[in-house]
Amino acid sequence: MKIRKITVLFCGCAVLLIANVFAQQTAQMKEQHRPQIHFSPKKNWMNDPNGMVYYNGVYHLFFQYNPYSSVWGPMHWGHATSEDLIHWQQQPVAIYPDSLGTIFSGSAVADENNTSGFGKKGKVPLVAIYTQHDTVGERAGKNNFQNQSIAYSVDEGKTWIKYSGNPVVKNPGLRDFRDPKVMWFAPQKKWIMTLAANNVVIFYSSPDLKNWTRESEFGKDRGAHGGGWECPDLITLDDNGTQRWVLIVNLNPGAPNGGSGTQYFIGNFDGKNFTSDQKETKWMDYGPDNYAGVTWSNTGKRKILIGWMSNWLYANQVPTEKWRSAMTIPRELKLQHMDDDIFMVSQPVAELAGIESKPVTIINIVANGKVDLSKQMGTIKFPCRINIKVATLKDFSLSFSNNAGEELVLGYDKKDNQYFIDRSTSGKTGFQKDFAARHTAHRIAKGPKMNMSLVIDVSSIELFADDGLTEMTEIFFPNKPYNQLHLLSNENMLIKKLEYSRLKGIW
Ligand code: FRU
Repeated sequence: MKIRKITVLFCGCAVLLIANVFAQQTAQMKEQHRPQIHFSPKKNWMNDPNGMVYYNGVYHLFFQYNPYSSVWGPMHWGHATSEDLIHWQQQPVAIYPDSLGTIFSGSAVADENNTSGFGKKGKVPLVAIYTQHDTVGERAGKNNFQNQSIAYSVDEGKTWIKYSGNPVVKNPGLRDFRDPKVMWFAPQKKWIMTLAANNVVIFYSSPDLKNWTRESEFGKDRGAHGGGWECPDLITLDDNGTQRWVLIVNLNPGAPNGGSGTQYFIGNFDGKNFTSDQKETKWMDYGPDNYAGVTWSNTGKRKILIGWMSNWLYANQVPTEKWRSAMTIPRELKLQHMDDDIFMVSQPVAELAGIESKPVTIINIVANGKVDLSKQMGTIKFPCRINIKVATLKDFSLSFSNNAGEELVLGYDKKDNQYFIDRSTSGKTGFQKDFAARHTAHRIAKGPKMNMSLVIDVSSIELFADDGLTEMTEIFFPNKPYNQLHLLSNENMLIKKLEYSRLKGIW
């Protein structure tokens, strides 16, 4: 009898304890400004996405992580996994600093043919290729403090063993020499590493991921050079049956709306040289908050990119004290022709539909002045998705607001042929001088028809206009959630169709 009572008591306590831990965890992921459909670390600092590889049904997302504080510091690789690119489980820290330095950005591949010899008993090794940043060397004024190293995992990313021959690519004397992105170049059966070096990229090749040969460099007088080049990526995208090469290059500062941004070059790669006859600079995302984006490896022809949803201008100051930064929604990349030009377009991955509720659809909304959309849509709640179709594009804006007088405004400005997002009075903006601003993006599409898809979380908006030809990503920090939505136009603008659907939180 006594034993039974003790057992019942013990079980009861255990249930309470588990419930309490669970409640705490849930509360932790529901703090003010915590994104509900985007990955963010439970606590502390995160920047670039790293080492993204798809293997055995799991998407791995590693990331620049400081496990000790919510500002940038000694970099480790944090780790999260997902089966659908939407729901993420944070895993223990994957790669720790060592005597060669802290662990900066890089990539990971599934070495299916065991070219590295790291695979044991038929197990495919995952190989991570990353920059080691030697802080001591940097402080001592050396100029070779960034070198490339590798580590491998034979338990699907849980534990990593560093290669004894590190570093595998030694610095030739360049202060910025980092962020290796590696891909398999099938025609010549070799690995290609794309590396950012000051303000160009350098290509290396290797048969085994351990021995690397310099092949060529690209970019000296090409593209934007308002800041240093970082986090490059070399991919192929389908262009009506032929494969085109695209070189993605992040740069900081020098983005179209200030600070960090991502440009791309469409061209050709022959295993040695990347060439492109692209004349003007092409930007992937005109918003200020999509940086260091690169793609998953091992996803076949499908190319999925994720970016860090912040900007080096203010990343360390954003008003979330326990954790800092989230990733963008993963986006699928494609090519699209426009007249005689070609562009890379992005759309949220189709998997987002898995958390989307049935949309409320409103047709034929005419705006001449200000229209309160919540009358037809019901009170607006984030996270949500809004799709708009317009037959004749005119000046218009959408304003998300709360009763604290804060608003986030986006729209289209016909005079300058620009989309815009204005977060000047969006809430907390005073933590850094550049944050409160109106940002613009040139409209690439032509003709009067327009479609726009908005993915909105509690502290971010991702705008995809004209099937993803123009993209803008922005973060914001309202003191109270926005719960009103107004459409404004003085031009008798007609929205043919508006769809509003809630997105179910992932935590
Ligand atoms: C880009 C970057 C990378 C570097 C990492 C350090 O945001 O500066 O070039 O590897 O962040 O955390």
